[in-house]
Amino acid sequence: MASQLVELELADWAGATPNEAWIAALEAGKVLYFPRLGFELSPAERKLLDPKLLVEGVRNISLDGAGKLKGVAGEAEMQEAVATMVGRFRSQARQLIDGLLPQYGPSLRMAPTSFRPAQVETRVQSWRADDKRLHIDSFPSRPNYGERILRVFANLNPDGAPRVWRVGEPFETVAQRFLPRAKPYSQLQAKLLRALRVTKSFRSEYDHLMLQLHDAMKADADYQKNSPQETVPFPPGSVWVCFSDQTSHAVMSGQFMAEQTLHLPAASQYNPDASPLAILSRLTGRTLV
Ligand code: SIN
Ligand code: FE
Repeated sequence: MASQLVELELADWAGATPNEAWIAALEAGKVLYFPRLGFELSPAERKLLDPKLLVEGVRNISLDGAGKLKGVAGEAEMQEAVATMVGRFRSQARQLIDGLLPQYGPSLRMAPTSFRPAQVETRVQSWRADDKRLHIDSFPSRPNYGERILRVFANLNPDGAPRVWRVGEPFETVAQRFLPRAKPYSQLQAKLLRALRVTKSFRSEYDHLMLQLHDAMKADADYQKNSPQETVPFPPGSVWVCFSDQTSHAVMSGQFMAEQTLHLPAASQYNPDASPLAILSRLTGRTLV
């Protein structure tokens, strides 16, 4: 398998410019990797790299667009320091995406920014929630009708620990492998899931198929072990960007990461035909949303 990683020399969050080849690579599901683009912390902020920061039972800290912070234990001063740090990551991530992908700008919808101080290795999860298994992002309760999940990640680890990912096969290959095993879509079941508030909105056939791919990948131990994949240690002081609803990925180890999700309608891509929605529509021969 050809590497799914494209390494870029950019060293300045404000310095990105659009480049046809990078855009095509990103929209083909590759990971854009910026080894020289660190997220800088002040000495005071470095003290915030502590899992004790988390409210008990919570995995992530999040900051929404209105400046509301969730998940931090501690007094007002602490809350403010975390909000400032996470807020700065939010604007730098946006600046990076605006520079690289100016056409997306008007169509982007920013999700809350997350800061993840928990250690990956020691996390215990059900197989379905286990992100140590290769998967594409698809969330059972949140149908998105083909809207894209674009993510900017930064490793903030102060002790030199990389965030180790595995990156798997291209989306179309994954889809060709697992679509034949997908359970057929049922509108009736989708209505029921909505009525029972299992889903926040009606689950489309697209959302059903994406979840089927997500589950089938994670449930297949042989696939996890033996499918084409590369292991990538993202060092502290690096940044990477991918469409996580398309890039097959797994996180194996690491601690302290900042992450920004941006949502984009597939129609606003440079090449909408490269989207999971277009690929699944083509492979099934059906309209899925
Ligand atoms: C994931 O999106 O599966 C997890 C990414 C990470 O925590 O590094
Ligand atoms: Fe994921």
